[in-house]
This record gives sequence, structure tokens and C-alpha cells, in this order.
Amino acid sequence: MILALETSCDDTCAAVVSADGRILSNQIASQGLLHARYGGVVPEIASRHHLELVDAITADALERAGAGLDEIETVAVTRGPGLIGALLVGLSSAKALAAARRLPLTPVDHLHGHVVASTLGGDPIEAPYMCLVASGGHTFLARVDDPAWYTVLGQTLDDAAGEAFDKGARLLGLGYPGGPAVDRLASEGNPTAFEFPRSAPRELDFSFSGLKTSLLYRLRDEPDADRADLAASFQRAIVDALVNRTRVALEREGLERLAIGGGVAANSELRAAVAELGARVWVPPIELCTDNAAMIAGAARFIDPLPYPDYLSLDAAARL
Ligand code: KG4
Ligand code: ZN
Repeated sequence: MILALETSCDDTCAAVVSADGRILSNQIASQGLLHARYGGVVPEIASRHHLELVDAITADALERAGAGLDEIETVAVTRGPGLIGALLVGLSSAKALAAARRLPLTPVDHLHGHVVASTLGGDPIEAPYMCLVASGGHTFLARVDDPAWYTVLGQTLDDAAGEAFDKGARLLGLGYPGGPAVDRLASEGNPTAFEFPRSAPRELDFSFSGLKTSLLYRLRDEPDADRADLAASFQRAIVDALVNRTRVALEREGLERLAIGGGVAANSELRAAVAELGARVWVPPIELCTDNAAMIAGAARFIDPLPYPDYLSLDAAARL
């Protein structure tokens, strides 16, 4: 059994996963509301709350799994990318938990976790497959021939898709995080009411910064424009860009299986749109799309752990 911790951004997460990919527990303490009043994640506040929550959430994950530390064989933890202070809390806790019992420790790339989220549970995806990861910090298409690693085929050249949702929400006067708020408002609007650009840079890359500017100008020129129509049209532009690139990638690579991951994979329109792509699609439950520790344990299953005490000098990395 693997005990995993994830603290790369503003969610304090712990999970217990079996070696064959069964999720025994997947606990998340979201700090979202604490950061909402600042309109975004405040790194120092995130680190402090991780520190307050990490022991309790770890105990909770073990209890829900009906497991004690004695049954844990490996500790896994997000090493990066993310907020450095936030990452350090998870990494230090994981080192302490592992070292106290002389257990091995597996450092995991957060994005690898998103890429393999669909290999967990009762109907795991099998390589080779394509994965679209769209989160608050990253947006990329990856080819997975072996779940131990992934090859990035294209990525955003500027804003991530989640960042576009968050910035758009802010312009529309919706709260943080913006993705769920835009998703909700969009369901009441007309997605063809406004024309927003679908920028198409190099073959499998993405660009979302022009979209935000376009919304800004639209609001300046038409201050009374219907907010639901704007949200629906804005969301349609993001989803179109993601889906079109994914279609090209599937064709170019000749892959028949697709997984989506990352917080934006929680978007209702994207979830519906990828189902129309013709590939067999794995859409994880929402708690496996947004940040969570089960996906970190999931990735750890495919990586050789570091034996005690080799990991004690390991550092977190804001960028990998
Ligand atoms: O993967 P994630 O939880 O954290 C990062 O690693 O960034 O992704 C968070 C992002 C935020 O930008 C949030 O607005 C977006 O995912 N998000 C959504 C939805 N739920 C979360 N975007 C669109 N529609 C949603 N329903
Ligand atoms: Zn993430």
C-alpha cells in the first residue's frame, strides 16, 4: 500500500492506494475559500495552512482506508512543480513519515499524477493513450506509451486553460476559483451569442491570453452585455481550442484511447465535448481531476522508490 501526500498549491491532500490501483482513501482539505477574498492563491497563506492541516488529513486518509502506518509500504509525495513553500510542507512530512519507519519514499512530478489519474480505479486506461491535461498552472497534450513517463506533444505558450477561466471569471465579476463559477453561469447562456478568438499557434500548442484580452474589450465596449451569454461564449472558445487540438493529436499519433485530467477536466462542457471525439475516452471523477493525492500514489506505482536514507536530502522543486 502507498500513502501519498500532495500540497503543491492550495489543497492539502492525502490518499492511500493499493499497488493494483484501488483507491482506499482520497482526502482533500481545500483552502479555496481562504484565498477567495484575495482573488487567487496567496503562497504564504497556503504554506501555513498546509502545515496546520497535513497531520490531520494524513490521519484521516489512513483511518478511511482502515489502515495503520504499519501496513504502508511506500510513502509518495509531490516534489514539484508548484509553490515552493507549499511543496516543502508535504515533502518534509512525507520524509518524516517514511524515515520514522525506514520506509522507501517516491518523489512524484505533479503533472505525471494528472497524466495517470485514469489508470486508477475499476476501469483503468491502458497505454498507449493520449492525455489532455488542463489545470490552473498547465495545459498540455501528452503521449503515454508506458505509464512510467509521458512525452509532451504540445503545450500552452502563455496562459493555462484554468488560468483563462479564472481571469475570465474575474472580469465577469465572478469569484475565485473561476472555472466552476463560469461553468455554472455558462449553463444559462447562449454559447454562440459572442464571437471569441480560437487562437491556433504551432501544431499542437495552445494560446489563451488573447481570449482574456478579447473578453476585456468586449466588456469595455458593451458593458451591459448579458453575463451568462458572455460566460457561455467564453467557455465555448476554451473548450473548442482544447478539443480541436486533441482531435489533431489523436489523428496524428494514431491513438484510439484518450484520457483527460487536471482541474479544467471538471468542466461540464469539456467532459461532454471529448465524448464526441470518436476515441474511447476516460473522464475521471471530478475528485481525480482537480488536485488530489490518489493520482500521486497512482504515478508512484510506476516509479522506483528511493530507499531510506537516500531521500533525506531531497529538495522540492518549483519547476521540474
Ligand atoms: O488541477 P487543479 O486543481 O490545480 C492545478 O494544478 O492548477 O486545477 C485548478 C484549475 C483552476 O484554474 C480552476 O478554475 C479550474 O481548474 N477548474 C475548472 C472547473 N473546475 C476547476 N475550470 C473549468 N470548469 C470547471 N468546472
Ligand atoms: Zn494540478
